[in-house]
Amino acid sequence: MVEDSGHATVTDSRTADARQPEWVFGYGSLIYKVDFPYIERRVASIAGWTRRFWQGSHDHRGTPEAPGRVVTLLPAPGTICRGMAYRIEPGVFTHLDHREKNGYARHRVDIALADSGKTVSGTLYVASEHNPAYLGPAGLDEVAAHIAGARGPSGANRDYLFDLADALRRIGDADDHVAELERRVRALAADASAP
Ligand code: SIN
Repeated sequence: MVEDSGHATVTDSRTADARQPEWVFGYGSLIYKVDFPYIERRVASIAGWTRRFWQGSHDHRGTPEAPGRVVTLLPAPGTICRGMAYRIEPGVFTHLDHREKNGYARHRVDIALADSGKTVSGTLYVASEHNPAYLGPAGLDEVAAHIAGARGPSGANRDYLFDLADALRRIGDADDHVAELERRVRALAADASAP
């Protein structure tokens, strides 16, 4: 269960030895905004999840009065989600829990590291439909208009989308949901700046 306690909630077991470095998998801003120290990082993927702009953002790309939209993961059997895995010291979770506090909870996941054929156990942050900031599904036009208009302490919501789309291209991912939203938000921005 996610509690709106100011900290991301730990929903699953931790590693056997919490003093050891641990892998964390990023699929959203954790791919491109790396404001934490890491020991190593690898392009990686997880099975059975897909990315959606269904989570509200009250603290980064919107406000409580006018939330932005950011990504979470939905269970999707047969689907692969590509992202970035970081091996971090356990103390770094204090920073990540704070950064992801607006509805995300930690889950254990198997992470396939690209280029090595190796699978490691690690953690990711998921915002489930039970958290208070969850917005849920909406049509692509509605989501695009929402993203185009939102802004929060971390900046414009559209920059979260554009930075994520760029980062996914760099790691060779083709995410139709993100690509289609990027196309629509860029079109809205072009319309808005047309004379
Ligand atoms: C993540 O990047 O893995 C979590 C969602 C976000 O912070 O954008």
